[in-house]
Amino acid sequence: MDTQDARGRHPIGLLGLGVYLPERVMTNDEWSEHVDTSDEWIVARTGIRTRRIAGDEESTADLALAAARAALADGAFEPADIDEIVLATDTPEVFAPDTAAYVQARLGVGNIPCYDLAGSGCAGFVLALDIARSRALANGRRMLVIGVELITRLMNWKDRNTCVLFGDAAGAAVVGRGPGAVEILAATAGTDGTKSDILGLETGGTRQPVTMERVRQGLHKNLVMDGREVFRQAVHRMSAASLEVVSTAGVSMDDVALVVPHQANLRILNAVAARLGLSDERVFINVQKYGNTGSASVPVALWEARDVGLIKPGDLVLLTAFGAGFHWAAVLLRF
Ligand code: UT7
Repeated sequence: MDTQDARGRHPIGLLGLGVYLPERVMTNDEWSEHVDTSDEWIVARTGIRTRRIAGDEESTADLALAAARAALADGAFEPADIDEIVLATDTPEVFAPDTAAYVQARLGVGNIPCYDLAGSGCAGFVLALDIARSRALANGRRMLVIGVELITRLMNWKDRNTCVLFGDAAGAAVVGRGPGAVEILAATAGTDGTKSDILGLETGGTRQPVTMERVRQGLHKNLVMDGREVFRQAVHRMSAASLEVVSTAGVSMDDVALVVPHQANLRILNAVAARLGLSDERVFINVQKYGNTGSASVPVALWEARDVGLIKPGDLVLLTAFGAGFHWAAVLLRF
C-alpha cells in the first residue's frame, strides 16, 4: 500500500528484507550431550526445539553480509544504491573496528558511512530501524539496517542456564523513501541503565579485561543473566512499548493485524500476548525453530511472517523487542 504525503512523496519504510540462517540445525537432544538438560525441560520452559549454529568457517560479518545481500535482492537494489549502514550486534567480528566496516568493504558499497549499535541487546535491530528512519527523514539517505548475532561462539557451552536459549542468525532491511515502502508509521524506544548488570557479556572490556586467570575460569565466555528478572522485564517492557507505539501512531491495538515480537522464550511471548489481549494468531512465533537470535530475531521473524503469507497489503504490523541494557523498542509498520 503506497500512501503519498501532501507533497507527493512516498513514505519512509522498508524497501527490502532478507535473512541468513546458518545451515546446521541443533536439536535439544544434542544439548544433553554438553550439559545436564533434556528436550522436555527446554521445550517446557522455553518452547525452543531447535536452533541454528554457524559453521566454524563463518564469522559475524559473513552472516551479516549474506542477509544484507538478500535484502538488497529483495528490494531489487544494487550495492551502489545504499548511502549508509547501521548494524546491531552484541557478538562483533572483532572488538574494534566495528562489524559494519567489514560488511561495507565486502558489500562493495563504496566509502559510505557505517557504524554498529554495539551491545544494543536483542532490541538492537528495532532501535536501528528508528535511527534509519530519522536519517532517511533528515537527509534522504537509503539505509541498510542489519541485526546479526553469532552468539553460540561467545557463550559458555557448559552453562545450562543460558546456552540452550540461543541461536545464530542475521536479518537485514533496506530503509528509505520509495514506492511500495512498508511504511514506518511510528517508533519508540527506551533504556533502563540501572539494570545493566543483570544481562550481558561482561568480560573483555576495561572493567574486566581478558586475563589468563579469567580464561581459565571460562569467564571470557560468561553470559551473565538473571533469568527471572529478564523474563519479568521483557514482558513488561515489550507490552508497554507496544501500547506506546500504537498510541503514538494514533491507532488502537485492535487495528494491529500482527505483532512480531523479539523471540526470547515462548512463555514470554504468551505473557505479552495476554497483556495486550491478543489471540494466538495475532502474535508471530518462530522461537521453536531458531531459539533466541538476539538482534537478528525480529527481522528473521518479520521475514518469515511475510514469507509464509501471514501479512496482507494494508496490514498494520507491530515490532517489539527487549534486551540487555536494558533496552527496548517498538515500531509500527503499514504493509
Ligand atoms: O533476550 C534476553 C535473553 N534472556 C532471556 O530471554 C531469558 C529470560 N528468562 C527465561 O527465559 C527463563 O527465566 C529461563 C528459561 C532462563 C529459566 O526458566 P525459569 O522457569 O525461570 O527457571 P528457573 O530459573 O527458575 O530454574 C528452574 C530450575 C533450576 O533448578 P533448581 O534450582 O530449581 O533446582 C535450574 O537450575 O531449572 C534448572 N535449569 C535447568 N534444568 C535443565 C536451568 N537451566 C536448565 C536446563 N536444563 N537447561
